[in-house]
Parts: sequence; structure tokens; C-alpha cells
Amino acid sequence: MPKLRLAPSILTADFGRLEEEISSVAPFVDWFHLDVMDGHYVPNLTFGPTVVEAVRRACATPLHVHLMIENPLEFAATFVKAGVQRISFHPEVVRDVAAAVAEVKAAGAEVGLAVHPDVPLSAVEPYLASLDVLLMMTVRPGFGGQKFLHEVVPKITAARSALEEKGANADIEVDGGVNLETVDIAVQAGGEILVAGSAIFDGVDAPAAARRLRERLDAMS
Ligand code: DX5
Ligand code: ZN
Repeated sequence: MPKLRLAPSILTADFGRLEEEISSVAPFVDWFHLDVMDGHYVPNLTFGPTVVEAVRRACATPLHVHLMIENPLEFAATFVKAGVQRISFHPEVVRDVAAAVAEVKAAGAEVGLAVHPDVPLSAVEPYLASLDVLLMMTVRPGFGGQKFLHEVVPKITAARSALEEKGANADIEVDGGVNLETVDIAVQAGGEILVAGSAIFDGVDAPAAARRLRERLDAMS
């Protein structure tokens, strides 16, 4: 099993101590997963490039922006300038998915498509070979701290097979409700990069929580 990677979502981090929160878990993680929401695609509003720049200043860890917004292409270059390595967006918000994928790459970022729990894998299958990451959501987008949706597991397994069939090498990232109880299920289904928000930034002991998840992933790698 290739190295399993851990990507904390900062959505439930303490934004009053963001630099401290980021640097406290950075030693245990491979990516930071930054959930950008516009209040239109999802009923929540989070942060933009300014916060991403602050995260960039706080660590050298690669940054993956998960755009839950209606006009992702308008902001791709801005997020690249803010220091982001990867940008994922939801295919249902763009007219031409292939063109949008190419446009994000042209802006200078690796690219991913994010699959809402209610969106079928067929919505992204035609584009798998051109992706760097396939973001499989196991919660309904909009909020951290939700329960892992087990009904999405077969879709993750199907995504794993579809990538193999196409000889595509996109990472499968599992996003939502991942914690010590659900991480094994997410990995067995095919998850390679595991997003954990409230399981890490729970206000109790973020570095300890990150270390426990890191140890669990290393034991499965
Ligand atoms: C939800 C976001 C997820 C979420 C993960 O819309 O895309 O990244 O913040 O947080 P937890 O791990 O708490 O579900
Ligand atoms: Zn996310």
C-alpha cells in the first residue's frame, strides 16, 4: 500500500490562533485541505485567498483548496498566487468540465474534481485521466463535524476501479467525517489522502489527534 497521506481541513480550527493551530499539526501531515465556501454553492461562507496566504506563511506543507463555490475559474489564478499547489472544484458548477480542468492547470495548479455525495461517479468518469486528485466527499458539503456517509463507500471503490481501468494516477482523497472510527473504512475503499477536520481541530489537542491519525495511517501503509 503506497504511503497514506493525511490532510487536515482547517474549517473547524481556531481562527483566532490559526498560525499556532497550523504549526502544531504540520509535523504529522502531508497536505492542508482548505475549504473555500461562497454561501451559494453551499449554505456557508468561509474564507478566501487572504487566509490561504496566512496558512502559506505558517507552514511549508502543500495546500489543497477545495472550492465549494459557483465560479471556481474566476479564482484559480488568485489561489495559485496565494501559494496553493492543488485546486479542486465541483463539476456541476461549470459548463465545460474538460475546459475548466485545463484552465486550472494552465493557471499553474494541480487539479481535482470534487464529487458531492449525491453526484454519481459518471459525472467525473470522462475526466479521470486528466486529474491529479479525485475528491470523494463523504459528507454533504458546507460544514465540518458531520457523520461519515457510509453509503458513499461503494462509490469510492468504484472510483478506485475506474482509475485503474483508465491507467489514471489521480490520488483518491476522502473528505468528510473521517476519524479513528471511520479511517480504516475510507482506506479499504481506496482512499489515499484522508481529510480530517473536526477529528483533528476539535479544540482539545490537535497535535495529539493528528499524531494518532498519522500512526493509524502509517500502520496501514
Ligand atoms: C465539508 C468540507 C470538508 C469538512 C471536513 O464541506 O469539504 O473538508 O470540512 O471536516 P470533518 O472532517 O469535520 O468532516
Ligand atoms: Zn473539503
